[in-house]
Amino acid sequence: MTIIAFISQKGGVGKSTLAQALAVEAKKQKIRVLLADCDFQQGTSYEWAKEKKRIECRLFNQVKDIWPLSKNYDLIIIDAPARTSQGTLEIAKVANLLIQPAGASRADLVPAVKEFNALVKLGIKKEKLLFVLNHIGSKAEEEVATEYLKETGYSYLPISLPEKVSFRSIQNEGKAITEKIRKEKLGTIPQEVSDNLYAPEAAPLKKRKEKTKRLRSLGMKVQEEFY
Ligand SMILES: Nc1ncnc2c1ncn2[C@@H]1O[C@H](COP(=O)(O)OP(=O)(O)OP(=O)(O)O)[C@@H](O)[C@H]1O
Ligand SMILES: [Mg+2]
Repeated sequence: MTIIAFISQKGGVGKSTLAQALAVEAKKQKIRVLLADCDFQQGTSYEWAKEKKRIECRLFNQVKDIWPLSKNYDLIIIDAPARTSQGTLEIAKVANLLIQPAGASRADLVPAVKEFNALVKLGIKKEKLLFVLNHIGSKAEEEVATEYLKETGYSYLPISLPEKVSFRSIQNEGKAITEKIRKEKLGTIPQEVSDNLYAPEAAPLKKRKEKTKRLRSLGMKVQEEFY
């Protein structure tokens, strides 16, 4: 069983948006997926999932309540609330992969990097941490932000998400942003990250490889020419 968590200190960066998209893509690949909405106050993903009733989503007040359910799933996607690194620590300790969406401006990127630095200081492995750029307005903006992330030494998804009004309307219908896209290409979670997803003791080697392959092909579809 794999746990992927979307985290950030800042609000509105795209945690719920991406958690929902990943859940939809995982379900399509017949992965037994639970979307765990840990934002008890907002319940964004919980409300979203109610609309179409096809993604299993539960609302959790405490992270520890998730674990008794874990044997029923291949993948648990945690939609975390915007919290300080200390608040995120409980999730960070158990997640195989922590994805932090961030905007392209320095005002977004600097605190986002600080958040990962703080988690590393608290004992979280750097290899588990991954950035994804969101709310991107132009190719140039994407390039500058990617260059910045490269220098930090953290991993980042090779694709970023454009700012699209249509993403909001599609979510209003209970769909994921990946269902909006006409011309699409599949970005993938980088291999080095997915290779780290399964601890050696988690499953027999053959099964592990199979699952890793399926997970590797998961990713966020993005429009080919979105600008
Ligand atoms: N790339 C995008 N283009 C347009 N709108 C977007 C994009 N990404 C997210 N949004 C919208 O921005 C808002 C915030 O996104 P989302 O709820 O995913 O962020 P969040 O990080 O989960 O926020 P919170 O910290 O409040 O839980 C939502 O209305 C969502 O539809
Ligand atoms: Mg949210």
